[in-house]
Amino acid sequence: MKRYSRITGTGSHLPVHRVTNADLVADLAARGVESSDEWIVARTGISARHFAASDVACSDMALDAARHALQAAGCGPKDIDLIIIATSTPDMVFPSTAAILQHKLGANGCPAFDVQAVCSGFIYALTVADAMIRAGAATRALVVGSEIFSRLLDFTDRGTCVLFGDGAGAVVLEASDTPGILASDLHADGKYVDILCVPGHVSGGQITGKPLLTMDGQAVFKLAVGLLESAALATLAKAGLTEADIDWLIPHQANIRIMQSTARKLKLSMDKVVVTVDQHGNTSAASIPLALDYAVRSGQVKPGETLLLEGVGGGFTWGAVLLKL
Ligand code: UT7
Repeated sequence: MKRYSRITGTGSHLPVHRVTNADLVADLAARGVESSDEWIVARTGISARHFAASDVACSDMALDAARHALQAAGCGPKDIDLIIIATSTPDMVFPSTAAILQHKLGANGCPAFDVQAVCSGFIYALTVADAMIRAGAATRALVVGSEIFSRLLDFTDRGTCVLFGDGAGAVVLEASDTPGILASDLHADGKYVDILCVPGHVSGGQITGKPLLTMDGQAVFKLAVGLLESAALATLAKAGLTEADIDWLIPHQANIRIMQSTARKLKLSMDKVVVTVDQHGNTSAASIPLALDYAVRSGQVKPGETLLLEGVGGGFTWGAVLLKL
């Protein structure tokens, strides 16, 4: 019998501290940086985001999201035999945040590692977990996206600091006789490293370079729109399906205008697109599992429906996963 993987539970975590555009604009004004709620909403669709408290680590948010996903899947930490976290904001340089999460969760012994593909990270992590399950290397995986981008923001750069937020999302992915994940498509092109990066590193006990997010917003925007369409179409083709078979598009939540453009290209109306960017901002690798969990728990997305998840981000990386819930 053929072996597939299927999502059996979802979970998420948002920090308590919610920052509205008005809060952020006031904070920026105190630093001499001018912005407005009108500009942020019109250019990005974002109204609010959440920022983690200073004593919260990426693994803490991952832990809460993971516990909710395990509960939804009706299993416990000891049933998990693989942990993958997608993050660009790990607890430490090493070891992996996945290893730290494994211990906090009490799932000691199973393989655990991080995937670093920035905002496409969850798409990469889900694809790796699916491949490992289909190959028989794992049976029940915990796949998490967890990010604290607020710590990478330059609050004197109004072109980036209004865009990002913190949060975590998780899924339990289990071996199954019937297909959950139908197809996926991953890409990277390192020639675009400079348009979205945090160009700093640790060396000799010091941070060298600039450890803050820098982005050429327009270049990222233009690339994202084209690449998301091509990844979506490639994934559908691999599964022998078309745009008409998609019940829900769950895109990386970066900018409502990118999401509207992707929906238009895939001939989908916006009421088939899960949108959380207005309340979460861009939470990088956490944005897709956060949006998925929101859509599942609100009853928007239902078992048996066909979902297209897609992401794009620093690297440049991009990809999509088509699945039946
Ligand atoms: O996760 C993947 C990574 N990120 C993305 O997907 C982001 C992709 N890019 C974008 O979403 C958009 O390019 C942005 C939202 C970042 C910027 O929107 P835009 O429509 O491309 O604006 P722009 O950069 O062309 O700036 C237009 C104007 C500029 O003023 P001038 O030069 O026309 O006077 C900016 O200085 O808007 C100004 N501006 C702002 N004004 C008020 C930029 N940021 C702000 C701000 N508040 N926060």
